[in-house]
Amino acid sequence: MNDTPLYAVFGNPVAHSKSPQIHAGFAEQLADPVRYEARLVPVDDFYGHWRAFLTEGGRGANVTVPFKQQAATLADRLSERARQAGAVNTLMVGDSGEVIGDNTDGAGLLLDIKRLEAPLEGARILVLGAGGAVRGVLEPLLEAGPSELVIANRTVEKATALAELFDARGRIRGCGFEEIEGRFDLVINATSASLAGALPPLPETLFNEGALAYDMMYGAAPTVFLEWAQAFEVRCVDGLGMLVGQAAESWYQWRGTRPDTTPVLETLRADLR
Ligand code: ATR
Repeated sequence: MNDTPLYAVFGNPVAHSKSPQIHAGFAEQLADPVRYEARLVPVDDFYGHWRAFLTEGGRGANVTVPFKQQAATLADRLSERARQAGAVNTLMVGDSGEVIGDNTDGAGLLLDIKRLEAPLEGARILVLGAGGAVRGVLEPLLEAGPSELVIANRTVEKATALAELFDARGRIRGCGFEEIEGRFDLVINATSASLAGALPPLPETLFNEGALAYDMMYGAAPTVFLEWAQAFEVRCVDGLGMLVGQAAESWYQWRGTRPDTTPVLETLRADLR
């Protein structure tokens, strides 16, 4: 029996996942050895593989495409932020054996934006997109105290519906790309348009001076959105730091310690180039 605590990332595909490397980096940095494995799970047998993982003594897992919704249904209990996101990217086994579903994506984004020292309080924030990636980040963004949070989406109804969900907290509204008004201090691209090399139709007057353009996607080359934003002389950052941030928050939930994300992010960035 191997006593080193066992964790994993479940996905399909999963070979490309950077999570094993990130968590190995955290483990080394904090001198807290863990086993962290990538598990390729057939799309129709997530539950079976999770149960097998538990019998192996698995203590927690990250969950990626396409299992984030299924993970929410197998958990005995959901954290408030997982409930709000409607998806689980982190599973943990409690002391009594109960399975808790959490979502660390929003915390990961905030961790990264704070690392970049971008102002959030009193800022005007624009989020592009209204899909699954956006649901989980709205609450932590609102908590950071912006003066206004605008969600713009190709399908306008999805943006307004999402804004209404969080309406009780005020300062949030949804619209189409054509109705974007004014300049912003932080613009977050959360559309999957970058994947197709597409750019939403955005006004040229989008950024305040010193603004941060942030794309949740990342790659060896700048995304189409960041390439576009570079012309306005704003800070342009991709989502690699958010990836490390969400992993750091998962680690914290499992191990109770907070890794320094910067050295792990630097190594990943160097590998990407
Ligand atoms: P995710 O979980 O990554 O957010 P999703 O739920 O499928 O994925 O959402 C994809 C988001 O990207 C949506 O906001 C989608 O806009 P629609 O709601 O109108 O579909 C947006 N998106 C995808 N392709 C786009 C494109 N070419 N231009 C603009 N927005 C696009």
